[in-house]
Amino acid sequence: MPAHGSERLTGDALAEQPRRQEGAALSERTRQEAREIIARYPQPRSALLPMLHLVQSEEGYVSAEGITLCAEELGLTKAEVGAVATFYTMYRRKPAGEYHVGVCTNTLCAVLGGDEILASVKDHLGIGHNETTEEGRISLEHIECNAACDYAPVVMVNWEFYDNQTPASTRDLVDACRDGNPPPPTRGPDSLCTFRQASRVLAGFRDGRGSEGVQAGPPTLVGLEIAKQRGDSAPAYDAAPPPAAPEKPAAPEKES
Ligand code: FES
Repeated sequence: MPAHGSERLTGDALAEQPRRQEGAALSERTRQEAREIIARYPQPRSALLPMLHLVQSEEGYVSAEGITLCAEELGLTKAEVGAVATFYTMYRRKPAGEYHVGVCTNTLCAVLGGDEILASVKDHLGIGHNETTEEGRISLEHIECNAACDYAPVVMVNWEFYDNQTPASTRDLVDACRDGNPPPPTRGPDSLCTFRQASRVLAGFRDGRGSEGVQAGPPTLVGLEIAKQRGDSAPAYDAAPPPAAPEKPAAPEKES
């Protein structure tokens, strides 16, 4: 995950940051950090996506107040910001749980049991797609693809991978999250952060954990290994400049 900005927080330091209380206004710190994000880009409006993650890191979702903050800082209308926030599924319109669980049922996961996992977790938690358990610990999302098809069926919690799941292992996973004691992800960091902490990383404020754990595992690298054994190599890159664009046809003359 690319990271910028002057602040570099570890997971522990993040946990010590004062959090927004329910019903309180977004903090002045949020506004200052939004300005840090804007300063990374030549065009201010390019900062909108990470700013929405920043708002989510404070509130667990993108609230009307968060939309107003982004609009004010970027000189956009609230309608423009709202259109972006409602287009991308990673922005929540209702508070996410502390642990946001995404179950993939796209092609490969479906073939290997993703639909059974989703049905089982829905039943176990008593919530459906885009809903949150009453105590606020778990939210559930039906995901189209977690981009981890080589480990299907895959479940994500706060965008970290839990590979090769079954209905039973996923029920155990959400129970552990509900108990506040989630197991470490199969790949990536050594422990699981909360949804708000993950949102802060997505806003570009590094947590210093980007190189922890397994990155690309054997199933991801199997094609590369086969290519190496066969002595395959990629064709040379053609550095020739691209052909010039065809000239536009002349506009027809107007009849007088
Ligand atoms: S199909 Fe499930 S991760 Fe791609």
